[in-house]
Amino acid sequence: MKKVTIKTIQRMKQSEEKISALTAYDFLTAKILDRAGVDLILVGDSVGMVFYGYENTIPVTMDEMVYHTKAVSRGVERAFLVGDLPFMSYQISEIDAMKNAGRLLKEGGAEAVKLEGGEIVADTVWQMTQSGIPVMGHLGLTPQSVHQFGGFKTQAKSKQAADILEEDALILQDAGCFAIVLEKIPATLAKKVSESLEIPTIGIGAGVGCDGQILVTNDMLGMVDDLKPKFVREYANLSKDIEKAVKSYGNDVKNGKFPSEKQSF
Ligand code: KIV
Repeated sequence: MKKVTIKTIQRMKQSEEKISALTAYDFLTAKILDRAGVDLILVGDSVGMVFYGYENTIPVTMDEMVYHTKAVSRGVERAFLVGDLPFMSYQISEIDAMKNAGRLLKEGGAEAVKLEGGEIVADTVWQMTQSGIPVMGHLGLTPQSVHQFGGFKTQAKSKQAADILEEDALILQDAGCFAIVLEKIPATLAKKVSESLEIPTIGIGAGVGCDGQILVTNDMLGMVDDLKPKFVREYANLSKDIEKAVKSYGNDVKNGKFPSEKQSF
């Protein structure tokens, strides 16, 4: 087992080895993902929707992110661990941003932080990276701006918006980001941006031209019944499997078939 570091992630881009990334919010899931060899684990603020049942990521707090990052970090040995900075934890002041990023590393055990936005966060990214905090950027459909976008729509479809995104990606690279998430943008644009950067891009709904891919783990495991984004591929159907298992257990309990001698003392 060779630990994945920021250097490994950078080398993977140079050697054109794709980076596999997934989200985790708890110890046991993190352990399984790590054992399965995923390169990067993100404790995403998608925890708000997946774990807390919020409609979007806006209500997620810094304390919640630290709590989940702590749990996940105990389960991770090999993967590179990134903690997400939630809405308004880095936008108000650079002092807040530094304190909160520091908490994800010091208290949570993350090895890097992720934040959303382009030029507007460049100074913050610079300060963090100069202080030894690796930063992953996030462009395109940045879910913390859901109300500004008017929904979870594909971004950067116009020439003007695409130009701004390309410029933002270069600005984030110059500010010191070690990687950038590109979410829900046209595949051709994501490929162009990926080719123009020295740092890797990690796509979600951004086509195959990115240097890596990330999905929300619960989406790819088929645990989410109501909302199924087009960019998700389900590799399991855990929602149905869990339902089936729980029904079997319930029947066995009611019929006196559980526990048997095997589970008794
Ligand atoms: O919060 C999250 O899980 C994310 C990824 C989907 C990129 O930002």
